[in-house]
Amino acid sequence: MVKKQDAIYAAPLDEIIDFHFDEKVAYVFPDMIQRSVPGYGTMISTIGILAAKYAQANSHCYDLGCSLGAVSLAMRQRISQPDCDIIAVDNSPAMIERGHQLLVSDASSTIPVNMVCANIQDVTIENASVVVLNFTLQFIPLEERLALIKRIYQGLNPGGILILSEKIAFEYRDIQRFHDESHHDFKRANGYSDLEISQKRTALERVMIPETLAFHQQRLTEAGFKFSDTWFQCFNFASLVAVK
Ligand SMILES: C[S@@+](CC[C@H](N)C(=O)[O-])C[C@H]1O[C@@H](n2cnc3c(N)ncnc32)[C@H](O)[C@@H]1O
Repeated sequence: MVKKQDAIYAAPLDEIIDFHFDEKVAYVFPDMIQRSVPGYGTMISTIGILAAKYAQANSHCYDLGCSLGAVSLAMRQRISQPDCDIIAVDNSPAMIERGHQLLVSDASSTIPVNMVCANIQDVTIENASVVVLNFTLQFIPLEERLALIKRIYQGLNPGGILILSEKIAFEYRDIQRFHDESHHDFKRANGYSDLEISQKRTALERVMIPETLAFHQQRLTEAGFKFSDTWFQCFNFASLVAVK
């Protein structure tokens, strides 16, 4: 697939409205996420490897907040257990529509992927062996996050895993500043201007709320997970695995 370059915030905007996963974003999303999230490609391919290990025969794997389905494609290429399927959910019709187009052209596997346009908070999670929230929980209102994590825990089979990737916050101001500045440098090195970086930050401010790793781990423990640990971190982006 040829990546369309993200220039959504390149020109000065009179008014910066809250970030939405609309058609404009769906169109440039692969370029946007690759140039904005350090380690994104590594995380996607490693999630495929984790799914290959933890997927259980006759179970569902969930990709919650799937966008164009990068996680689903990585899982489908790796999973070899019989009678597994993937349920990919996103509430952005534009993402699901483009995701479908990418999925039909993927001949790498026969594992079925069911792409559903829905709120992940309304989707039944059952008989699950792998659940992935790859940069999605951060868009769920803070007070609703525990209920979602508990539902995921309840829907997982024993031995199943949740993979949770998030932009993270830090308790200490100096550490927060180090990671913020490093992330800014990462984006600049990938061709974003200071104006683009600052306008996008403003657009995301009210809709994407990061939390500390300690807070995430505490919530995972409260939901019942046996243990959780960080398996990837680059600056203020991290991925955790939680095992039931
Ligand atoms: C940063 S993107 C996720 C990236 C994607 N998981 C990947 O690895 O390429 C966040 C996605 O979550 C979706 N989303 C946010 N809140 C949601 C909700 N309540 N229900 C379903 N999808 C949601 C957005 O539409 C968006 O596509």
